[in-house]
Amino acid sequence: MTCCLPGQDYPPPPLPGLRIAELESGDTATVLAVFEGLSAHSRYLRFQTGVPTMPIRNLRRLADVQSGRHVVHVALLRGRPVGLARWIRFPGDQSLAEIAVEVVDDVQGRGIGRALVGHAARSARAAGVENFLAYIAVGNRLVRDWARGLGAVTEPDDVGALRLPVAPLVPATPAGRRSRGMAFRWPQSRRVRPRL
Ligand SMILES: CC(C)(COP(=O)(O)OP(=O)(O)OC[C@H]1O[C@@H](n2cnc3c(N)ncnc32)[C@H](O)[C@@H]1OP(=O)(O)O)[C@@H](O)C(=O)NCCC(=O)NCCS
Repeated sequence: MTCCLPGQDYPPPPLPGLRIAELESGDTATVLAVFEGLSAHSRYLRFQTGVPTMPIRNLRRLADVQSGRHVVHVALLRGRPVGLARWIRFPGDQSLAEIAVEVVDDVQGRGIGRALVGHAARSARAAGVENFLAYIAVGNRLVRDWARGLGAVTEPDDVGALRLPVAPLVPATPAGRRSRGMAFRWPQSRRVRPRL
């Protein structure tokens, strides 16, 4: 993962003008804008394949938001989409969702990924998700270390995945405010990995 410019400290100061919103279903333009801000290396780390362009069917799938099943948070920096975090529930296991996150290269290492994961955790927990599974390439050391630091452990049923408890990732809410939950029940069936 690329991060800071040579000589720049980590962590750098927080970014003014950062806002996290939810992606509207069908908003392929935002998904494409973030994809186009990823370097070839970041695309490889995120999609685990070299994808120079994003086919329209994949864009539609990535923008196919469904409440309580596939939720996408967008980081907007002064209105520009610079990152996405998504979770998608595993059919057959209501308590489990796959998570994936990406931040455009020119603002990586500024806390946007962390903020996105916090939002994803909050919405996932409200929907009854207890654990995330993250498929992070073995060579993606920085992100694997980050995930382990957040409490991730290797998933016994799926050695390619890290299991990350959701509750500790939820940022503290200001006193007196309660987040509103989304009631959702997914039918029980065999565990099938969703496609992120
Ligand atoms: C992974 C990714 C989303 C992180 O986004 P980001 O905005 O750069 O991340 P942040 O600045 O919030 O940093 C997140 C964590 O990464 C680690 N990190 C990031 N940059 C770092 C650096 N230069 N040195 C050390 N640790 C660093 C830290 O652990 C940090 O957590 P902390 O600040 O709470 O300690 C982004 O780098 C990316 O899009 N990478 C390519 C796609 C990918 O690998 N996705 C993950 C698999 S789905």
